[in-house]
Amino acid sequence: MKWKLLLLSAITFCVQPLMASEQPAKMHSESQALKLNTLGMDISEAEQAAIVSAIQSAWEISAAAHKLNSPRYGNHYRRDAHAKATGCVRAEFEINGDIPGEFRHSIFSNPGRSYQAWIRFSNGDMQVQPDSKGDARGMAVKVMNTGGTPIAPELGESGLANQDFIMTNTPAFFNRNIYDYAENMQHLAKLDRRGWFISAWPPRLHLKELWRAYQTVSSTIDTPLGEQYFSMLPYRLGENPIKYSTRPCAGSDYPSSAEHSEKGENFLTEKMVETLTTGSACFDFLVQPRLADASESDMPLDDGTVIWEESQSPFIPVARIHIPPQEITDETQQTFCENLSMNPWRGVGEWEPLGSLNRARRLVYHAVSEYRHQKNHAPQQEPGDWCLPGSEVPCSETQGLRIRKPRWPLPRCFDGQYRPADGSATSSDCGDYHQARNDTAEASY
Ligand code: HEM
Repeated sequence: MKWKLLLLSAITFCVQPLMASEQPAKMHSESQALKLNTLGMDISEAEQAAIVSAIQSAWEISAAAHKLNSPRYGNHYRRDAHAKATGCVRAEFEINGDIPGEFRHSIFSNPGRSYQAWIRFSNGDMQVQPDSKGDARGMAVKVMNTGGTPIAPELGESGLANQDFIMTNTPAFFNRNIYDYAENMQHLAKLDRRGWFISAWPPRLHLKELWRAYQTVSSTIDTPLGEQYFSMLPYRLGENPIKYSTRPCAGSDYPSSAEHSEKGENFLTEKMVETLTTGSACFDFLVQPRLADASESDMPLDDGTVIWEESQSPFIPVARIHIPPQEITDETQQTFCENLSMNPWRGVGEWEPLGSLNRARRLVYHAVSEYRHQKNHAPQQEPGDWCLPGSEVPCSETQGLRIRKPRWPLPRCFDGQYRPADGSATSSDCGDYHQARNDTAEASY
């Protein structure tokens, strides 16, 4: 526990000097690593140096990206990665009634329990660009008021216990570990996107990573609601190392109306608005356990470029994400979502991000989030429900939803694939829900 508090001091120690200036000042990794080392963290000196370097690069990328994005896309500082949100939605995160016993830990302890959540869908680049351009697509889920003991107390800004799940739509990362990542980001901070992967002089070829990077940035999609997303890196849930994923529920269908080239710059947002005006969306939340006798080459814990083969260990559904019909373009809501902070270490109970990349993310995400919040003079707050701070609309359980007379938990009729907590396949009784939904879509609320 002590080293966790010391990590917080280290972040604060590193962040403060950089907050004051417009352009992040150059830090000296070696001296920072030495200081970090005296804080008693149980990670090696070399790893500490790589983390400090990654933080430095992240700040430089944030500042460089700001120059590229502003003023055309607004003057606020954005995330240094996944800068453009394509939609931010209210969702319900429901633990499956039939979740296998070995996964009943952390927020999965109570079968059938439902939590409110926010989901931010994003494009991966540091630069805001048209949705038709190939890019990684992100899905970051914040499950709220989970109860349980937070694993990283420094992230519980409001004292709430929340849990974040952060994914992209490719199953593997383009760097093996924090050492490769830190070097790669030094190139990216100079806006040199390929230099670490391939270079004539000094001669360098990271072929597998180059292929993974190509796979990551070449993805074009029709709607964020129709993609499968992956944690890419492993976590410990109870005793089990796992990776996690979200997959559109069976039967989900979001037909596409035109070719990408004919669509507007923000067609992914437009598509989601169209779907959620009267319809809904649904994802299965899945975990993929690491086999007890898996080799380090087949299912490594510290190599983000390796996909754990589903033929060896299939993904198992443990929860459902229900996205009800709702309004998503409200300006207050968009600002609220830009000010959210996600972190793989925001989690409770028997949950632990694994590997050197994940260890670094605890500090890097926190540092970049603090940086942009300070630059934007925005409060760093953890939400506890679907209400929007500062909204003119009085807060209620129905805020933003296009459902008439909702009660908690929400009626399941918006979700044709709903499966009750006992794991049976029967759908709930929808009564005249569909008629009510149509009335609601026509009425102003
Ligand atoms: C390999 C698995 C990874 C995945 C699935 C992932 C995914 C994402 C996603 C979806 C976001 C946007 C979060 C949001 O909507 O608020 C994000 C942001 C970010 N990522 Fe990652 N990422 C990964 C690895 C890394 C690594 C290794 C680092 C650095 C060590 C990193 C640094 C960041 C930072 C600094 C942000 C912005 C955070 C903020 O300002 O709030 N990511 N990432």
